Amino acid sequence: MKKIIKNGTIVTATDTYQADVLIEGEKIKAIGQDLSDVYAEVVDATGQYVFPGGIDPHTHMEMPFGGTVTIDDFESGTIAAAHGGTTTIIDFCLTEKGKSLKSALEKWHAKSEGRAVIDYGFHLQVVEANDKVLEEIPTIITEEGVTSFKVFMAYKNVLQADDETLFKTLSVARDHGGLVMVHAENGDVIEYLTQEALKAGNTEPIHHALTRPPELEGEATGRAAKLTALANSQLYVVHVTCKEAVEQIAEARSKGFSVFGETCPQYLVLDQTYMEKPDFEGAKYVWSPPLRDKSNQEVLWNALKSGELQTIGSDHCSFNFDGQKDLGKGDFTKIPNGGPFVEDRFSVLFSEGVKKGRISMNQFVNIVSTQAAKLFGLFPQKGTIAPGSDADIVLFDPNQERTISAETHHMAVDYNALEGMKVTGQPVTVLSRGQFVIKDKELVAKPGSGKFLKRARFDSALAEEQDKVESV
Ligand code: URP
Ligand code: ZN
Ligand code: ZN
Repeated sequence: MKKIIKNGTIVTATDTYQADVLIEGEKIKAIGQDLSDVYAEVVDATGQYVFPGGIDPHTHMEMPFGGTVTIDDFESGTIAAAHGGTTTIIDFCLTEKGKSLKSALEKWHAKSEGRAVIDYGFHLQVVEANDKVLEEIPTIITEEGVTSFKVFMAYKNVLQADDETLFKTLSVARDHGGLVMVHAENGDVIEYLTQEALKAGNTEPIHHALTRPPELEGEATGRAAKLTALANSQLYVVHVTCKEAVEQIAEARSKGFSVFGETCPQYLVLDQTYMEKPDFEGAKYVWSPPLRDKSNQEVLWNALKSGELQTIGSDHCSFNFDGQKDLGKGDFTKIPNGGPFVEDRFSVLFSEGVKKGRISMNQFVNIVSTQAAKLFGLFPQKGTIAPGSDADIVLFDPNQERTISAETHHMAVDYNALEGMKVTGQPVTVLSRGQFVIKDKELVAKPGSGKFLKRARFDSALAEEQDKVESV
């Protein structure tokens, strides 16, 4: 029941130091020099960083979407996440018009129960804000431990909600400690541009990007931020891709509004040209918002470094190339939107961020773990290495090199959108609540060892604490 991690370098969002970590049961019991306990198993972390487990606040496991269902479920998806250094995911639970929010959660519990190898929580979609839904939200927060609510401003006729729904959701969230999340793109204009493209015979994957220009992400982000200010509420913008959206978030934040933003690894390292690959390969890179012009990558890195964006989510929404992405051959609107990133989120941020000097090591921990814990009601249970916290720990070799490939990844999907990319730094051993999930790069946990997390209400003071993090 006890373990001592010895000889490693502990890195949190604020500190980097050499010390031992004593784990008792599920929790970190003590941190100190030369800890000893005859009953404890010693885990040698010589030459390794001791990071808090990654928290991925944006996944879609076994989700029906685009006429099919995402190929990673809570078992394969969390196994892949754990191999990549992530010990908590927060997955999006979709709702249906006319049905209760509770019934949607029951569905998501049914598909995740007994499957996950790491802990998980749910965000809940709000697609209509009628009286029933608005009355149900407070109980969902207090009884179900689901404290974040997602409104899609795009995917017209499928997931999209209107501004009235967004505003009412913001208002009820303000009163009950919820955090509203938005997919910020102008779905109405996208729908018009899409129909025009199809009429003109433009059916290739690249037209997915050309019909969803960055201006429409900037417009929706600004609209959501302004509605948040008007409602005196709090907002988290998922998968921010471009300068137009970053500027809106920065402006809202500079005025003191509680507006937060997430980007994803794919937008930091890939660009729109990938969607032009021949032989329909461009479909592997179709997700929303789309990949952008390369110049946006520097904007996103700078926003992570300056704290204008707080987190990195994977937006893991995996579809096989064969049998799923190819549903859109001859019509880009039928390509299921999404890509597979849950496994490589952590390593890409370390390798491209820390190793290349774009962010500091403490900023890395803040972005990949701590800020998500603070924003989504999990801190200090998760997101740090401190006495009393869950022993969710990654032992990370900063010098091991690896080439990302579908041949070696642990996701169920048949391709890797980062195929061939070389990364430096590798999670070697991963613990979830004191138990090994990955030991020397091998899976040792059983499905069902991961638990559902009831999360606390949004705490604005905690969410803004990022300013204490050291900068480069
Ligand atoms: O294309 C994407 N991102 N698919 C997942 C659903 C969403 O919009 O987050
Ligand atoms: Zn989205
Ligand atoms: Zn998503």
